[in-house]
Amino acid sequence: MGHKRRKNKGPLKMLSSAHEKQHEFLDRLARSLEKKRDSWEQWGDTIQFFQGPYLRHVADEEKTLFTRIDSPTLIAGLVRDHARQAALWDQAKECFEARDADMIRLLFRSLIQNHTAHNELEDSNFPQLLHGLTAETLDTMRGEMRARRD
Ligand SMILES: [Fe+2]
Ligand SMILES: [Fe+2]
Repeated sequence: MGHKRRKNKGPLKMLSSAHEKQHEFLDRLARSLEKKRDSWEQWGDTIQFFQGPYLRHVADEEKTLFTRIDSPTLIAGLVRDHARQAALWDQAKECFEARDADMIRLLFRSLIQNHTAHNELEDSNFPQLLHGLTAETLDTMRGEMRARRD
């Protein structure tokens, strides 16, 4: 049943569900930073998520959505964010491997800020941008996004 429901989701819903999933990780990460104790296992899982499944979401945006909308300034900023995020997650991975808790905590704080502001900007713009696309285009987009997960 879950499969069927996912199949019927349109691109906008797929993108916003992905954001919700990201925020589950980011909220847990923020809570772990408030604690004195290091949470290496959770930190490792978070890095793995943002260097793995999250990249499918970035591809959904950069390859499937941004190529079909006309909003060059917004898109340039969002693509810059994606590159910045990737560089920060790379650094976090290095700190994780070196067990550098002070540095990884700093990096996580800027990653939480970056992702939060980024997703707010996307969430407030995507509905309107996708609204201008035809049903046929939306269907093609959904197919591309599904294919990344098969
Ligand atoms: Fe994005
Ligand atoms: Fe996004």
